[in-house]
Amino acid sequence: MANIERGTNKELLEGILHCTHEMCRQEFPVIDGIPIVVPDVGRYLSENLWHLTARGDLSHSIETLLGDAAGQSSAYDSIRSHTSTYAYDHWGEFDPEETATRTRPGSVARCLSAGLDLLGGAGGPVLDVGCSVGRSSFVLAGRVPGLVLGGDLNFSMLRVARQALVEGEVRYARRRIGLVYDRRCFDVPNEGAERLDFWVMDAMALPFAQGRFGTVTSLNMLDCVPDPRAVLVGIGHVLAPDGAGVLATPYDWSVNATQPQGWIGGHSQRGMGRGAGEPLLRGLLSPGGGTGLRMVGEIEDFPWQVRLHDRSAVSYSTHVIAVTAEAKA
Ligand SMILES: C[S@@+](CC[C@H](N)C(=O)[O-])C[C@H]1O[C@@H](n2cnc3c(N)ncnc32)[C@H](O)[C@@H]1O
Repeated sequence: MANIERGTNKELLEGILHCTHEMCRQEFPVIDGIPIVVPDVGRYLSENLWHLTARGDLSHSIETLLGDAAGQSSAYDSIRSHTSTYAYDHWGEFDPEETATRTRPGSVARCLSAGLDLLGGAGGPVLDVGCSVGRSSFVLAGRVPGLVLGGDLNFSMLRVARQALVEGEVRYARRRIGLVYDRRCFDVPNEGAERLDFWVMDAMALPFAQGRFGTVTSLNMLDCVPDPRAVLVGIGHVLAPDGAGVLATPYDWSVNATQPQGWIGGHSQRGMGRGAGEPLLRGLLSPGGGTGLRMVGEIEDFPWQVRLHDRSAVSYSTHVIAVTAEAKA
């Protein structure tokens, strides 16, 4: 059920979805074609007004002037620097102006492909949790049959994903250094677009019924959420009994995202596991681990790089894990 404010015969661009459960009837807005399906919609909207009301029609010089005025550590700069980092890795390989050689774009696509290779085969529908600017969801559409849904909490990043989907184009401000950004705009392949969509959702409260997906992926996101175990349990819940998935994490714990009691490893150096995350994660993905997921393959050390600016990049070693639903194993 929906109120349609703006749309075409193919899609809803702006409007309100209503939960059909008669005891609920909660409203979920669709803004610029992106449904916002989170538990506390009011809070999400009030905390993300910057993202939701950002305009994309300003000239480059006015955008840079705004960025200079807002300064570093402003919400404006934090949004554009994060978007720059992920748009570069996800889509930079298609940018004809891209000359950077220090950090090769495409590391998320390589990471996902390696995980899918571990699985052998995968079936739809697909959920890509923490998809950011969307490249992994496109890779999934190319490799797995059926519908693919990319989900993330960051509305600005999903705008980039949606541009790729609808326009076959990526536009972003690419950070050169400090507060200096260059505008980049280039075509990207968007095969499979008719099977893809992007929604705002919270990985810790996935808005789906049990067993809904044949494949679930979540790359480099577990260490970005307050409760990583809840994410694993949620993935186990929405995965079909014969479903499978790919997880990856560099265990880059930080209290900005997760309090130490929620970390998978990274503390308790004098304890049994001496602070290692890998055995704990394997335990959570074993029978009785409580997540409903079973590890069926892994690459302990896969390169995943994120570019910050012309002279800085972070090079991670991410742990790629193939899982199946426990029922299948
Ligand atoms: C480190 S980035 C990784 C992005 C992408 N998967 C990749 O590997 O390039 C983590 C992503 O998770 C998203 N994220 C963080 N917390 C989330 C949550 N609770 N629900 C959904 N997405 C979340 C962030 O917005 C960001 O896009």
